[in-house]
Amino acid sequence: DPSAYDASDAVHAAGGSFMHREIHEQPQSTERALRGRLDERFGTAHLGGLNMDPRETRAIRRVKILGCGSAYYVGQMGASLVEELARIPADAEAASEFRYRNPIIEPDTLYVAVSQSGETIDTLLAVQEIRRKGGRVIGLVNVVGSAIARECDGGIYLHAGPEVAVASTKALTNMFVGFALLALQLGRVRDLSIADGKRLIAGLNRLPGQIAEILEQEEELAAAAARLAEADSLFFIGRVRGFPVAREGAQKFKEISYRHAEAYQTSELKHGPLALIDEALPTVAVVPSDELTDRNVGALHEIAARRGPLVVVTHEDVDLGELDAVRIAVPRNERELDPILLTVPLQLLAYHAALHLGLDIDKPRNLAKSVTVE
Ligand code: G6P
Repeated sequence: DPSAYDASDAVHAAGGSFMHREIHEQPQSTERALRGRLDERFGTAHLGGLNMDPRETRAIRRVKILGCGSAYYVGQMGASLVEELARIPADAEAASEFRYRNPIIEPDTLYVAVSQSGETIDTLLAVQEIRRKGGRVIGLVNVVGSAIARECDGGIYLHAGPEVAVASTKALTNMFVGFALLALQLGRVRDLSIADGKRLIAGLNRLPGQIAEILEQEEELAAAAARLAEADSLFFIGRVRGFPVAREGAQKFKEISYRHAEAYQTSELKHGPLALIDEALPTVAVVPSDELTDRNVGALHEIAARRGPLVVVTHEDVDLGELDAVRIAVPRNERELDPILLTVPLQLLAYHAALHLGLDIDKPRNLAKSVTVE
């Protein structure tokens, strides 16, 4: 609702920021992304804008996702959703790299361009290169009528509403929802059962309320962020579904707090980065309740043994034992949808770190909201 933004001057005058507003708008904006798109009866999604009939949809053998910055990281989350729900091989690549490596364009691959602005030059030129070679591209785009939206064969609008802060929050969350809907639709023309489809729909409907619950923990997150902001360098770790969450968390943190934040797979810690851990290098760990919890918790003990400060974003039922850590619990959803709920606290960590440091949250130095020229 653009008119909501007319009040934003008042928010600024009161010392608020667009980023803070946009984070807090997520319960409503995710609801908009879902509205009218869930087919409860058949346990599937209803995405008219894809312009693909079931036969064409079934013929897809691979999904390739392209985006830049946060859109690339959420693309990695999207690739997992497609693989898990539709069992189609999927991966994400930075559009800025893809377009320069003479990519092989396959007729039975579905290309997905992800962009908040719909104007990012690297993503736009990747789309044009794919289409010039006869590939099919759909867009997950927020801005209606933008260049990328116009160039694609079809797409899913994100309905996040205008996003002003350079660091993407509500648009990114709706990108995730868009991928979940896409994966559901791709899955349901294949082997995903109607029961699983309904399970996912129920999970999607729970997201807005669960995001609101996470936002209620803002005070604890602010306290943790103030401590993290004192460090020169941080690790963000996660694995499998949690790894793109860690990457996005690190990106957000470095973008607005100017602290060095590096994402690692938790499983790779022992292959190098563990050498850096000491009391001056905090780690933000993403530890969902899943088949890897025990291994993840084991890695946290390795960090604690080296006196590394820990903030753990996890679920209520995860047993951290005697671990000395700040614990942030998010509500559980269906496993496939957990990544987005684990991402929300990391937005508030980045926001409060930047606030603590007195930085310009909405317009970080050296960065633009969208990079539209070469
Ligand atoms: C810029 C912004 C990032 C954003 C990226 C992609 O680099 O600083 O925050 O994720 O562009 O933008 P898009 O509009 O394509 O999602």
